[in-house]
Amino acid sequence: MDPAEPPPTSKKISRTEREQQYQQRGTILWFTGLSGAGKTTLSIALERALFERKALVTILDGDVVRSGLNKDLGFTAEDRKENIRRIGEIARLLSETGIIVIVAFISPFRADRDQIRASTETGRFIEIFVDCPLEVCEQRDTKGLYRKVRKGEIPNFTGISSPYEPPLNPEIHLRTDKQKLDQCVNAILSFMKNNCVFLR
Ligand code: ADX
Repeated sequence: MDPAEPPPTSKKISRTEREQQYQQRGTILWFTGLSGAGKTTLSIALERALFERKALVTILDGDVVRSGLNKDLGFTAEDRKENIRRIGEIARLLSETGIIVIVAFISPFRADRDQIRASTETGRFIEIFVDCPLEVCEQRDTKGLYRKVRKGEIPNFTGISSPYEPPLNPEIHLRTDKQKLDQCVNAILSFMKNNCVFLR
């Protein structure tokens, strides 16, 4: 072993040590909103903006996670609850490692989101309401799903045949039908700055 290297120790790495090393606080940025509201687009733009600031950041996205880890889940109320429970657990574990985790799921149920907030250290769960009227989401129809829903091909669709419960007190409320992408990203970055997520 290189004599300059410290000997191994079984002392656990503390949160403070991680924060010092990465110069950031591990935080969950939880996007919630209807399908087509802009969660994925925003999460990608935000991730890049954070990456350019040298932040350690990752995205957990509904469509991606549902095609792998949560392949076994559908869109009943129980399955959505389980989907969000698993993602909440992963997001918390990653954030405790010091990573900034961007989560982009519809996450339609308030109780499920509140539960993750309650199990996360105060200030480390930032709920971002990606708000956009259903009519606009339907008009955008980026994935062609609303058209299928109207033809009766997709049951339990959020906002149409399955409920969406908007957050009552989100840390950040965006209106993607009125605000441009860069305004939305800047609003999140300034919230993060004001709330000491960055240490550099
Ligand atoms: S959640 O309700 O469980 O949080 P999640 O974000 O993982 O949903 O997945 C939503 C994505 O799955 C949508 O953006 C859409 O592409 C697709 N999807 C397929 N069926 C449905 C449905 N019945 N309701 C909502 N989204 C659906």
